[in-house]
Amino acid sequence: MYRLAYTSAVSRPLTKADLKQILSVSVSRNKAEKLTGALCFSRDIFVQVLEGRRHRLNSAFRRIARDPRHEDVELIGLEPIEERIFGNWSMAFVDDSEEVRGIILKHCGLDRLVVDSLKLADVTALVREMLGKP
Ligand SMILES: Cc1cc2nc3c(=O)[nH]c(=O)nc-3n(C[C@H](O)[C@H](O)[C@H](O)COP(=O)(O)O)c2cc1C
Repeated sequence: MYRLAYTSAVSRPLTKADLKQILSVSVSRNKAEKLTGALCFSRDIFVQVLEGRRHRLNSAFRRIARDPRHEDVELIGLEPIEERIFGNWSMAFVDDSEEVRGIILKHCGLDRLVVDSLKLADVTALVREMLGKP
């Protein structure tokens, strides 16, 4: 089992309907691929964490990276894990809020999701906190 995280930026403004569509496709596809994870969206930046079999993660990442709805897709890390953290979610979603921006500020030092200098473990901790997990 492996965990992967990446960050990206929207390539054009996305509506609630666009996000809903991305989520519903992700949930059903991830279920089929036995992938779990979370997608966070704040100030036009995405951070996504995905867990599952390595070859499935790789092909999902290739597919996602080609998606024209976002750009500047940057891999943060891919590491082996003992067990899933996001096991209950085919794709949990964290939307922007004041509370989320507070958590981002604490982890990134900015109120934007700038995670370039973070390691996979730091990003995982950030996403966990956003989901309200201890
Ligand atoms: C920010 C973002 C996150 C996405 N997350 C996933 C995901 O977790 N799983 C997934 O299958 N597709 C995800 N997608 C959608 C894929 O890019 C793609 O549209 C979808 O998998 C269908 O691919 P296909 O048309 O090649 O079958 C995401 C797209 C975006 C823009």
